[in-house]
Amino acid sequence: MADRNTLRTSAGAPWPNNQDSLSAGERGPLLLQDYQLIEKLAHQNRERIPERTVHAKGWGAHGKLVITEDISRYTKAKCLMKGAETPMLARFSTVAGEQGAADHERDVRGFALKFYTEDGNWDMVGNNTPVFFVRDPYKFPDFIHTQKRHPKTNMRSPTAMFDFWSLSPESLHQVTILMSDRGLPQSPMQMNGYGSHTFSLWNDAGERYWVKFHFKTEQGHAFYTNDEAEKIIGKTREGYQERLFNAIEDGQYPRWKFQIQVMPELDADKTDFNPFDLTKVWPHDQFPVIDVGYFQLNRNADNYFAEIENAAFSPSNVVPGISWSPDKMLQARVFSYADAHRYRLGTHYETIPVNRPRVEVHNYHKDGEMNVYGGVRTGNENAYYEPNSFAEEGAAVEDRSAQEPPLRISGNADRYDHRIYDDYTQVRALVMKVMDEPQRQRLYKNMGGAMAGIPAPIAERWFGHLKQVHPDYEAGVRAAWNEANATAAYMPNSHPVTDDTPQLTSGDAAD
Ligand code: NDP
Ligand code: HEM
Repeated sequence: MADRNTLRTSAGAPWPNNQDSLSAGERGPLLLQDYQLIEKLAHQNRERIPERTVHAKGWGAHGKLVITEDISRYTKAKCLMKGAETPMLARFSTVAGEQGAADHERDVRGFALKFYTEDGNWDMVGNNTPVFFVRDPYKFPDFIHTQKRHPKTNMRSPTAMFDFWSLSPESLHQVTILMSDRGLPQSPMQMNGYGSHTFSLWNDAGERYWVKFHFKTEQGHAFYTNDEAEKIIGKTREGYQERLFNAIEDGQYPRWKFQIQVMPELDADKTDFNPFDLTKVWPHDQFPVIDVGYFQLNRNADNYFAEIENAAFSPSNVVPGISWSPDKMLQARVFSYADAHRYRLGTHYETIPVNRPRVEVHNYHKDGEMNVYGGVRTGNENAYYEPNSFAEEGAAVEDRSAQEPPLRISGNADRYDHRIYDDYTQVRALVMKVMDEPQRQRLYKNMGGAMAGIPAPIAERWFGHLKQVHPDYEAGVRAAWNEANATAAYMPNSHPVTDDTPQLTSGDAAD
């Protein structure tokens, strides 16, 4: 029996029996000294960590980022130099559903990428849409509350969703994309990813360029209608996991083209829209996309919990040559994610292997819960504070070449009304120019269906916004809403139930 692995306790002692508990007599009771049993039950009680407050359900894989074009005029980032190849991790997700939610639900998809560069981790925490629902971070927690469960009914509430959206017309662009074909991709491989925010690149000369990041599927876009998705969910709730995992196991490695749009720093004052408004795109004809390279996913995680659930992506993770912009939403996200990770995973979440940078990390952070750093963190055991006199003996020192150029800002500190922006023109371009008639009809049907059962005053407020986009948009969704109210076989118990809320008999609902 040589070479068999011995079962051991967490402290390393051989485990004599993993089948029969230690009892006082054959029929019990048990003895407290059966500490292996206590350890086993205690570990089970600690198997769950808090799920992500948003984007709880996800699918991921490892891969590589390859740069094929020269963009060194815009950035000094080593991972963006022509020929660079950088290991990476991707995690895709839905936003609203909990960890056990069905994969094929209509929702925005998260598109989070972690690049393990030689200058530390660069995280691109984007979505499959180029815009977002809100443009001021004050509104994010409220928006998310409307996507989650009603506190009394414990059900999701279309009333809350459309109430919030109709009171926040900046959401029109994103809601339109959500209700379009792109709101229900067949798999994570068949959708684009967008950094969504405006970020910046900066070069060796200290020049800053505003930039949008795009990741375009090479598998082609493919979507399901709601009816098709319902049938899939009836058979499997893990449709995305199955497709992504199996494709990679079968050697069908998915790829995305990596492209950017670029705007010289001072041109931000010349556009007819606010380039730092997350509810807007940069039109392609004014800011053409530039090829940069591609990324490819080619390895499944060996352990989902360790490598995908434990992954911590944060917009605060940038590397020299890449930075943020004044976008208020992005600024809030730079704070929010690392804070979420400290709560969800623990203070030293960056020592978890999937989050650990591929460079040796030296700094003056000290001790703390679960500190498992090996060796001398600062490079010299006498240098546990800064400044110190041990630079020549290996103590960690700052690197001024990593300092980004000054960010030009101006204006008074104030709370600026963000409702002055035009929320309709770009939506009009999408619905009336980019979409063809069958796409528009599906959009109307999806949106009208999602509104089924909501109170009329809220619906009318929303129709008012659609009308400002285009009268056909409003008419199409209104007709679909009327039809959905008259025919829906199932209507969520949309709070609050008012006189305006169409009710179904229990017989209808059971059909
Ligand atoms: P373009 O005609 O140059 O761009 C339209 C883009 O829309 C396409 O390139 C494609 O972007 C994307 N698209 C195609 N079908 C859909 C769909 N059903 N749902 C969402 N997006 C779709 O015009 P503009 O650049 O002036 O943009 C017009 C509108 O297109 C915008 O207002 C915006 O709503 C939408 N759009 C624009 C993007 C941009 O970065 N300019 C990106 C995505 C959407 P892609 O190549 O990224 O797939
Ligand atoms: C996840 C906050 C806007 C994309 C999260 C998490 C938080 C959060 C706390 C959970 C993090 C974790 O536990 O690991 C916020 C705040 C926002 C905001 C405060 C606005 C102020 C956005 C936007 C995008 C986005 C605009 C996309 C453009 C994602 C993605 C994830 C995520 C993809 C999942 C990352 C993963 O796979 O682990 N967000 N978010 N979020 N968010 Fe946001």
